[in-house]
Amino acid sequence: MQDRPFFHKRDEFRIIFLGFDFLLQLNSSAIIFNIQLNKNLGFKIMILSPEELPKVALEDMNNIHTNELEILNALYDATVKEDVEEVEKLLDEFIKDVEEHFSFEQNLMEKYSFFAYPMHKGEHDRIRMELNNLKKQWDKDKNSKLIKSYIENHFIPWLINHVQTMDTVTAMYLANFIK
Ligand SMILES: [Fe+2]
Ligand SMILES: [Fe+2]
Repeated sequence: MQDRPFFHKRDEFRIIFLGFDFLLQLNSSAIIFNIQLNKNLGFKIMILSPEELPKVALEDMNNIHTNELEILNALYDATVKEDVEEVEKLLDEFIKDVEEHFSFEQNLMEKYSFFAYPMHKGEHDRIRMELNNLKKQWDKDKNSKLIKSYIENHFIPWLINHVQTMDTVTAMYLANFIK
């Protein structure tokens, strides 16, 4: 008799869990259906829209970020479609663009003696290393899924966080010198 409330509770959990599981399956089926539909209709699949990317106090930096996101979205679309040739081309373009993006910020930080330059550069260097490893892995196995997963789980969360924190503080400082 004493065990009863426990069993009831466990059953409730099981029902809730099954409900969640069903919703998750429904949701992932909807995502797969959506991707398939987009593929068939020739639509581009974006990982993040330019409006969703946080803005900083320096317009030049915003333009660089928006341009990078455009290349990243094109690369993401190619990984979803598993278009190896397109991924190959866009991955190179993306890595080159990231380098220009980072160098642009670093040159300004050095020029105007930004106090947190080593910290900000350290973050850029970490991403440079990640992208270098990703490229090496890509050259080995041409696995689009790996690039797709890196964009979803590493680069996009990192970019949003980086723009919201280090880039925001840097842009506020630089805006005192540059209009
Ligand atoms: Fe940036
Ligand atoms: Fe940065």
